[in-house]
Amino acid sequence: MLAKKPPMGFNTWNTFGRKIDEKMIMETADKMVELGLLDAGYEYLVIDDCWSEKQRDPQSGKIVPDKQKFPNGMKYVSDYVHSKGLKFGMYSCCGTRTCDDFPGSFDHEFLDAKTFAEYGCDFLKYDYCFKPENAVGSVLYRKMAMALKMCGREILFSACNWGCDGVNTWARSAGAHMYRSTGDIFDNYPRMKEIALSQVENLPYSGPGCFNDIDMLTCGMYGFGNVADDHLDESERKQYDIDYKTEFALWCMFSSPLMIGCDIRKINDTTLKLLTNKDMIRINQDEEGRPAYVARGLEEECPTFVKLLSDNEVAVLFTNLTDMDDRDCRLFFDDIGLQVADGYGLRMKDVFTGEDLGVRKEIFNLRLDKHDCAMYLCKIEK
Ligand code: GLA
Repeated sequence: MLAKKPPMGFNTWNTFGRKIDEKMIMETADKMVELGLLDAGYEYLVIDDCWSEKQRDPQSGKIVPDKQKFPNGMKYVSDYVHSKGLKFGMYSCCGTRTCDDFPGSFDHEFLDAKTFAEYGCDFLKYDYCFKPENAVGSVLYRKMAMALKMCGREILFSACNWGCDGVNTWARSAGAHMYRSTGDIFDNYPRMKEIALSQVENLPYSGPGCFNDIDMLTCGMYGFGNVADDHLDESERKQYDIDYKTEFALWCMFSSPLMIGCDIRKINDTTLKLLTNKDMIRINQDEEGRPAYVARGLEEECPTFVKLLSDNEVAVLFTNLTDMDDRDCRLFFDDIGLQVADGYGLRMKDVFTGEDLGVRKEIFNLRLDKHDCAMYLCKIEK
């Protein structure tokens, strides 16, 4: 079974956009292994849009890799990625063209799925641009899911229709293993926050076999790259480590796929440490795949999230998503089903420092500065 746990990997779009080529993919593959990202679980290396020639081959009808960017073809790149122990991902679109105006798979689904299988592809991100007016989105995703089933290779199907057409209700039945539930992320705090908050009500629509994908991570981009947002004031243009810390904590708590979006070849120690935090990944990858819920604080934009895990463990995330410092964050144990009278509490371990706070009962308070978070991996204990 594919996607038993939220898929993890790297995707080219956030940083590289159109500027992708064989060399950068192979260097990224090297780094993913060298830096321990593969060991931490990041196994898919996904090439997003802009990898092909502008037109299909007139004879075969196949999509053709860009000869400048990928002079040795895609099988060559995929063989290299596989030789590193990684899995190889590609991108197409259910419309006539991709979002950046390269050939889409509309009416070519079975041929394209076979082509991707020939490349040795293990993952397909499938976008939603240039969909003919009268074509039904859910049917186009069903069609590609069928084509992938029949292509002779096991390929994880990553649907990307930005949350349109009630996708949370049909993505799983259509055959997707993950589905994008929002428009595109940008490397700025307001957008990251907006995306996360927009999915609180959709947290239940995610679980083993088909996960809600709240988009690729911007952690470690620091304002450089394709989705670095230059429409904002200089002061707001990039995010800071505190924002990335909260972004990663939210993505882990929401059981979102974890697709790194920064340039892994230039990643700094802070980002690497964050993205390979074992406790946070354990929370994201929990085998039961239960959704988190809000215990309190959503109206004040200081939501406390709780996620039940396997082995009597519980994850708790406190956030201050506002722009105000020193806000009160709380957990009332009553709200999560642990009444004082029953004698149970949580042994709380800070996932960032490793500190064991002992067994806490009844109420847990802390204050957080703007954009900060605190995350605990807890055991239910007497
Ligand atoms: C859409 C998707 C992005 C990316 C681009 C590529 O906007 O949502 O994630 O794949 O297309 O053009």
